[in-house]
Amino acid sequence: MSVEVMTHPNDSLAALLAPKLAAVNSLISERMASEHAPRIPELTAHLVAAGGKRLRPMLTLASAMMCGYKGPFDIHLAATVEFIHTATLLHDDVVDESTQRRGRPTANLLWDNKSSILVGDYLFSRAFQLMVETGSLQVLDILSNASATIAEGEVLQLTAARDLSTSEEIYMQVVRGKTAALFSASTEVGGIIAGAPQTHCKALYDYGDALGIAFQIVDDLLDVTGDSSVTGKNVGADFRERKLTLPFIKTISKANTEELEFWSRTIAKGAQKDGDLERALDLLSLHGAIDETRQDALHWAKRAQNAILLLPEHDIRDILHSLAIYVVDRIN
Ligand code: IPE
Ligand code: IPE
Ligand code: MG
Ligand code: MG
Repeated sequence: MSVEVMTHPNDSLAALLAPKLAAVNSLISERMASEHAPRIPELTAHLVAAGGKRLRPMLTLASAMMCGYKGPFDIHLAATVEFIHTATLLHDDVVDESTQRRGRPTANLLWDNKSSILVGDYLFSRAFQLMVETGSLQVLDILSNASATIAEGEVLQLTAARDLSTSEEIYMQVVRGKTAALFSASTEVGGIIAGAPQTHCKALYDYGDALGIAFQIVDDLLDVTGDSSVTGKNVGADFRERKLTLPFIKTISKANTEELEFWSRTIAKGAQKDGDLERALDLLSLHGAIDETRQDALHWAKRAQNAILLLPEHDIRDILHSLAIYVVDRIN
């Protein structure tokens, strides 16, 4: 099937990269095994069987292909970024006390927090082994920096949670860290491994950074507007966890005295009761925060599009260009 007739750019990418993605999936299955600790394959098989969009490995494969890479290590790098992503999800669901991921019960619910943390550490280490095999110090530099930045973003979020004075600047810092750092590393290493010129690697980095920001803003919107049967995650979880995402920050900045009391009780003090989530969602709509947040996501998607257009003409470049807007319109 030609790539143009497909509606969703992520499906077009998956079709174009199908043989490579199959190789990435076998490498993932091979490397997540462990002879010594049966809990590891049990838990990782649960996560992997649930799928996931494979967005980050596709970004790496697409970037390398667009830059003319012909060697074998794009597969290693794609598996590396998916391993890092999976490790952060295991840890994230413990931190967020989440019960649903990829449409299934989370590993922390099915097993326990200890297993999720330790298997997450195992996957992180496996990711590092895989990237060492590429022999590129520059790749090691980028991916190890990204891993540190993700952890920083998650910790910053932890301290910003429940704090009603959290600003949009802090939110952006969190998002750049916890999500965009891995997107930008995923695209940049594709260019690096292909030996692309520095300007092209920079454009790939900028594309991944802006795409990652748009992606997380939309993830936060889907947390309030999404359908859990489609997102595969609990809806309203951010409010219950008292996490101040962009729609909440915008709404709180416009709150009157009575509304501020509501936010103070539910978010700062955490004394939530039946009907509070509905009231919170009403306030988001009332203050136009859903629309404004969507506009912000669109702004970052357009920045991603401008960055990718700095690369030479290529079919993949056009798909990545459409992917940026698709990320904002996605429903899962
Ligand atoms: C979830 O990422 C974590 C965020 C950065 C919001 P994805 O939505 O890409 O997760 P999977 O891999 O498709 O489940
Ligand atoms: C995801 O953060 C970012 C990382 C996994 C580091 P969230 O907590 O917002 O993502 P979901 O909604 O649980 O996927
Ligand atoms: Mg989470
Ligand atoms: Mg989280």
